Amino acid sequence: MTSSYMNELQPPQRVLLGPGPSTVHPRVLQAMATPVVGHLDPAFFQVMDDVCEMLREVFHTNNTMTLPISATGTGAMEAACVNIIEPGDSVLICRNGYFGIRLADIAERCGATVHLMDTPWGKAVDPQMLRDELKKHSGLKAVGVVHAETSTGVLSSVNELVDVIHEHGALAIVDAVTSLGGHEMRMDDWGIDICYSATQKCLGAPPGLAPISLSGAAMDVVSNRKSKVQSFYFNLKDLEAYWNETRAYHHTSPINMTYALREALRMMMEEGLENRIQRHARVADGLRAGVEALGMTLLAEEGHRLNPLTTVSVPEGIDDAKVRRTLLDDYDIEIGGGLGEFRGKAWRIGLMGESAREKNVFALLSALESILSKEGYEVAFGASLSAAQRAIATFGDN
Ligand SMILES: Cc1ncc(COP(=O)(O)O)c(C=O)c1O
Repeated sequence: MTSSYMNELQPPQRVLLGPGPSTVHPRVLQAMATPVVGHLDPAFFQVMDDVCEMLREVFHTNNTMTLPISATGTGAMEAACVNIIEPGDSVLICRNGYFGIRLADIAERCGATVHLMDTPWGKAVDPQMLRDELKKHSGLKAVGVVHAETSTGVLSSVNELVDVIHEHGALAIVDAVTSLGGHEMRMDDWGIDICYSATQKCLGAPPGLAPISLSGAAMDVVSNRKSKVQSFYFNLKDLEAYWNETRAYHHTSPINMTYALREALRMMMEEGLENRIQRHARVADGLRAGVEALGMTLLAEEGHRLNPLTTVSVPEGIDDAKVRRTLLDDYDIEIGGGLGEFRGKAWRIGLMGESAREKNVFALLSALESILSKEGYEVAFGASLSAAQRAIATFGDN
C-alpha cells in the first residue's frame, strides 16, 4: 500500500449538522491563517483582552475570571472540577444523559464523594426533585448540572436549578457546552458560580478552546483550598495570572485558535446575541416540524427541547449507520448517531452557530426523505405538506 501523506490535504466540504463541531465561517478560518505571534507579545495581549471582554458579554457576566482554557469542553469540565473539588469533598451531579455521567466521573477522579441524581434520558432535570434530593444530603460543596444535554437534546431550566442549589448552600457548576451562544445564558442574573463551554458548537469556531467563567465566590473557594490543585495545566489561579493580571507565562497559548475565537465572537457581536438565539430557535422549529412531517418522532421532552441539537428516533427497521453513511457519502451532510442509552436508537441533528441556517434544514430534510424512501420507509407527510413545506411554514410563523 502506498502512503498518502505526500498528497496535499484536501478535507471534504461537509455540511456539519452533527453534535459539533459546527460549520466554521470563512472569516474565522481566515483569522486563523494570520501570522503567529508570541504568547507574550503585547499585540497578543490585546487579542486576549478582546476575547475575554466578548466572552463576558456572551456569558452575561462581570466575572473577572473569564477566559478560554486551552482544551475542548472536556478540559473545561476537568478544570471546573479539579479547581473546586478537594479530596474528601461531597458533591452531587444531576445525570440526565451522557455528559452528566462524564461530569460525575471527573468529579470522582478529583477525589470527591459523588452523589447522583438520575433523571431518565430525554427528560429535563426537575427543580422540585432536586430540592427533595438535596434534603437527603448535608455539606455538599457543589452541584453539577448540564444545561443542554447533547446526548438527549434536552434543555434543563438552569436558572431554577441554581436557586435550589443555593438554597442548599452549595456552588452551582453548569455545563453550557452546547447552550452558550445558542440559548439564553445569563450567568450573573441566574447566579451560576462556575460555567464552561466549548468553541466548536454555537460559538462558531473550530474545536480547541473552552471558555470558562467563575464568580468571585467560586474563586474564593479556589483561593482558600487546603490542598494544591492536582492539575498543573488547568490550575485556574495560574491561568488567571497569565490572562488577567501579570501576564506570567503558564503555557504557550494556542495563538491561532485564539484569533479564531476572537473572530467568531466578533461575528456574534455583529449579529447581536438575541438575534443569534432567535435564529437558533427559528431553524430548530423548522427542523422539528419537518422531521415530524416525515412521520418521525422527537425524543426530547416537549417544552425542554434544545434548539442547537434535535434528537430524532431512528425509525423501526431503518439501519441507523447506513443512513448516516449515505448522508455523508452522497450529500456531504454529517449528522450524529446516538450515545450511551440512545446508541443505535437516535439521530442527533445539530443546528449550531454557522450551521444553524434555513438552507441546511431544507438540504437535510430533502436528503433524508430521499434516503428513507429508498430504504422502504413510508414517508408520511402530516396534513399532506412535505417536510420542507412544513419547515417553510414554520419559518414563516416567526
Ligand atoms: C454537554 C457537553 N458537555 C461536554 C462535552 C465535551 O466536550 P468536548 O467533546 O469538546 O471535549 C460535550 C461534547 O459534545 C457536550 O456536548
